[in-house]
Amino acid sequence: MSATNDQLPQLGANTITEVIAAMTPEEKVNFLIGTGMDFPGLPPKLQAPVVGSTNKGKVPGAAGNTCAIPRLGIPSIVMADGPAGVRINSHRENEAQTFFCTAFPIATLLASSWDVDLVESVGKAMGVEAKEYGVDILLAPALNIHRIPLGGRNFEYYSEDPWVSGKIAAAMTNGIQSQGVGTSVKHLVANNHEWNRNVINVKIDQRALREIYLKGFEIAIKESCPWTVMTSYNKVNGTYTSESAELLSTILREEWGYEGFVVTDWLAGRDPVAQLNAGNDLLMPGSIYQQEILLAAIRSGELEASICDRNIENILNIILQSPTFLGYQYSNAPDLKTDAAIARSAASQGMVLLRNQLETLPVSEKACFGVFGVTSYEMITGGTGSGNVNRAYTISLLEGLKSAGFSCSETIESRYNNFIDAQKLKRVEVTEAFMPHQALPECQFSDEDLSNFAAQTDIALMTIGRHSGEFVDREEEGGFFLTAEEEDLIARVSSAYHKQSKKVVVVLNIGGVVETASWRDQVDAILIAWQPGQESGHAIADVLSGRVNPSGKLATTFARRLTDYPSYENFPGITLIPADEEEKSPISGDKEAEISYNDSIWVGYRSFNAPSHRGNDSICYPFGFGLSYTDFTYSNLTLSDKQFDSKLEITVTITNTGDVAGKEVAQLYISAPCADLAKPEAELRAFAKTQLLAPQQSETVCFNIDVANLTSFDPELSKWVAEPGSYRVKIGASSLDIRLETGFNKSARTELGL
Ligand code: GLC
Repeated sequence: MSATNDQLPQLGANTITEVIAAMTPEEKVNFLIGTGMDFPGLPPKLQAPVVGSTNKGKVPGAAGNTCAIPRLGIPSIVMADGPAGVRINSHRENEAQTFFCTAFPIATLLASSWDVDLVESVGKAMGVEAKEYGVDILLAPALNIHRIPLGGRNFEYYSEDPWVSGKIAAAMTNGIQSQGVGTSVKHLVANNHEWNRNVINVKIDQRALREIYLKGFEIAIKESCPWTVMTSYNKVNGTYTSESAELLSTILREEWGYEGFVVTDWLAGRDPVAQLNAGNDLLMPGSIYQQEILLAAIRSGELEASICDRNIENILNIILQSPTFLGYQYSNAPDLKTDAAIARSAASQGMVLLRNQLETLPVSEKACFGVFGVTSYEMITGGTGSGNVNRAYTISLLEGLKSAGFSCSETIESRYNNFIDAQKLKRVEVTEAFMPHQALPECQFSDEDLSNFAAQTDIALMTIGRHSGEFVDREEEGGFFLTAEEEDLIARVSSAYHKQSKKVVVVLNIGGVVETASWRDQVDAILIAWQPGQESGHAIADVLSGRVNPSGKLATTFARRLTDYPSYENFPGITLIPADEEEKSPISGDKEAEISYNDSIWVGYRSFNAPSHRGNDSICYPFGFGLSYTDFTYSNLTLSDKQFDSKLEITVTITNTGDVAGKEVAQLYISAPCADLAKPEAELRAFAKTQLLAPQQSETVCFNIDVANLTSFDPELSKWVAEPGSYRVKIGASSLDIRLETGFNKSARTELGL
């Protein structure tokens, strides 16, 4: 007679070992893979496995569910995307209620705030929404490196720099998890572009892997203990990351002490036995293919029970913390109004003012704008793909300007509305799920029109917009570069308005770096709004009006040309003849491919700011750059000691010397002595954002530096090494605007094991 539930071990009442011991092989396999994904066109073998129990219907639109084992008290938990907010279906069959979520600003904007407290507050709001909609784990943050502007998912990632990436990701994770739901720090590692992502082999030298591509994950994992880590689709140095014991057992668990569970990206990897053996605990979303292979492997002994039990234990330890296991009674009614206000505030804090000639901005609220650019009327709130959010509304720039008290030319507005309506009728609508819209062409005007508009308005505002999304990398033409139409519009609007001594402001509604050198001198001000979420228009108007003083700084270099990026030389990689047809990805038909990261550690400012590059014109706007409506001075740089022993406290005072309140981001760069290893001229090692400083108000910020902040990775020794000698401490308003400098000496060489 089968044991009744009250005789069977129960999760939470009995030990995990006892619960696992009661699981059948079938239950173990079903638990180690998800309960499947309903995605149009999936090949049969990738269809959902037949499992006992799940709550797939609990949160429609969620990315995946684990398998329940009710007889052992194991519930099914829910995992939903993504980095800009919770992505679930906004409508459900036979339900009158809606399930909209807040579209927060994209990750790149949040990183551009350089404000870990702000990012944590956004994380808290996302965590509440996830919890109140019945989600247990939010599949965020994503922190792959902005290696090249053409990376399709850069919008979902933070920076070219691993320290900014790691610190911001840790803040986001801590914020989300403070609400009792989990996260998934992703995609470990080197998913830096989308081309052939399911199969591409990324060849990275060990020093670059450690210092650039893993460092952000190391910081985030050590400083926020994410419930889960998601591996990436690609291979690194010949092995799928989801199948790499070196990555998942040695580095992640033994070296970094990670204690949560590891989940694959959806349908990632090839060999489920290898994935489980490597330490990839959960295979999402789960497929018939995996179920069959794993059952056979368990029965044949190819997959050892101890491996299964280890992976199951890792997952159960997290389920024990989950709202579902704890019986949280979620409301399905998060406070979206409060979250909208958080999204609006966060958006304005991450916008970056690149140019402001003769204090064009802020604009007095009595001004009448001539609003140009289709994206002014069709704001791009975020990227597409799994990082999208089903939001209730989008505030366009027009709405934002009017709500802020500005007037806008109705003639221009109606011209654009009619133009956009006509273009949409002609546009080939994207039918594939998750794919970005086709960009609308720009509306053209005669010189006479523009001259009349200039006479009728006070200032021109033009938005340049860019879609970006998962699955596709960005185009060069019309992606990084402006289109001929956009260039023409900027030139002619500027000419018309400047002839009447009126100014022109460009707003960049973008998900990543665009070319600016060829047109920036034609306009008076440039504000990067990024993709600022559902409150876009309000947030942009808050900055343009001066209600919010812009305080964002670039977390990624804006170079003059694509060819200035060392990574461009062999982007996106080469296709290889697959070893056998089977090797072709059963998901997307991606072919075997390979790319070598020949630029090694020379990514972003590490390359652009090198003394050898000085004087060349490759930088338009450097890493860490951003203007304000006020000015700040830096003073009283102090070190707790001029001789480094084990740590150092560094303080600096920031004073607002302008006429309006503002926030400043102080950046700490360290130049280290070289021995065997070539090193960047200086590397960011800490940053701090002041509170809102009133005119003449000061704040002293404090940085604590330990020896790990001084090290470089020596691949020969496989250790982190800090050389003896003279170190320079540089406090900058950007990586090239160093305001104060001092130094300290380190007498002995330090080698830190892994
Ligand atoms: C996607 C993404 C990942 C996302 C997952 C679930 O393909 O790469 O970021 O969390 O699948 O939607």
